[in-house]
Amino acid sequence: MAIPPTPTVLVTGAGGRTGQIVYKKLKERPDQFVARGLVRTEESKGKIGRADDVYVGDIRDAGTIVPAIQGTDFLIILTSAVPKVKPGFDPTKGGRPEYYYEEGAYPEQVDWLGQKNQIDAAKAAGVKQIVLVGSMGGTDSNHFLNSVGNGNILVWKRKAEQYLADSGIPYTIIRAGHLLDKEGGIRELIVGKDDEILQTPTRTIAREDVAEVGIQALLFEESKYKAFDLASKSEDAGPPTKDFKALFASVTTKF
Ligand SMILES: NC(=O)c1ccc[n+]([C@@H]2O[C@H](COP(=O)([O-])OP(=O)(O)OC[C@H]3O[C@@H](n4cnc5c(N)ncnc54)[C@H](OP(=O)(O)O)[C@@H]3O)[C@@H](O)[C@H]2O)c1
Repeated sequence: MAIPPTPTVLVTGAGGRTGQIVYKKLKERPDQFVARGLVRTEESKGKIGRADDVYVGDIRDAGTIVPAIQGTDFLIILTSAVPKVKPGFDPTKGGRPEYYYEEGAYPEQVDWLGQKNQIDAAKAAGVKQIVLVGSMGGTDSNHFLNSVGNGNILVWKRKAEQYLADSGIPYTIIRAGHLLDKEGGIRELIVGKDDEILQTPTRTIAREDVAEVGIQALLFEESKYKAFDLASKSEDAGPPTKDFKALFASVTTKF
């Protein structure tokens, strides 16, 4: 019997904090995946080792996505607009910093048009499934994240999620809770819908766990055409999640 070829996976935002983890995990599983990364700059490329499978492109410029997406089976989107702290903030004085987005790098350009460009490019290239990592909070237009830098980030992220869900491509939308740089694989994961998890005390998740769920989504039919909120219990509060097929099967929401 012919052995099917190992699928190629492109992770965008591969120089970002979660994107780096996904890229590394994919590289560690050469029997399952051929890894590719897309980063915005040469500097970001340096963060993940400068391999030939890391492409430099800007998701706001559709043409620069094409070389990376050609021949790709799966796409994991981990790009996001990133607000910057306004100069002059002194953390020793307390209070909250003020944020801004650089001109041309507002959520409208990155989280909406940039994600749309990726979805369109993936569709044109015949990608079989797209995993989009977004954020919880999108059901509340008054969520404080929308006021950060006046960017309405959750509104634009949600618009891209809707575009993906309407695209016809098999998709998995992961709306993560507050991201933590902690060890993954040691907590029980919780899935939810409509931001209900935000009303509970367990609203966080390790970036490593988000990365793992994003990759596992490529392995199970149960993950397709689904959107869900994702958080985790605190360590020792439940058995660490190992059965991802069951996790995806427990999701009943398409958006
Ligand atoms: N922070 C939280 O607590 C939280 C909570 C829930 C969900 N989320 C979401 O989870 C996802 C992952 O978060 P994260 O903190 O791991 O991400 P991150 O470190 O902020 O990374 C975002 C990446 O997007 C890239 N990017 C931005 N603009 C780009 C462009 N025009 N072209 C190409 N790449 C571009 C950045 O590249 P450069 O570094 O080169 O600019 C960066 O690598 C994001 O969607 C985030 O909004 C975050």
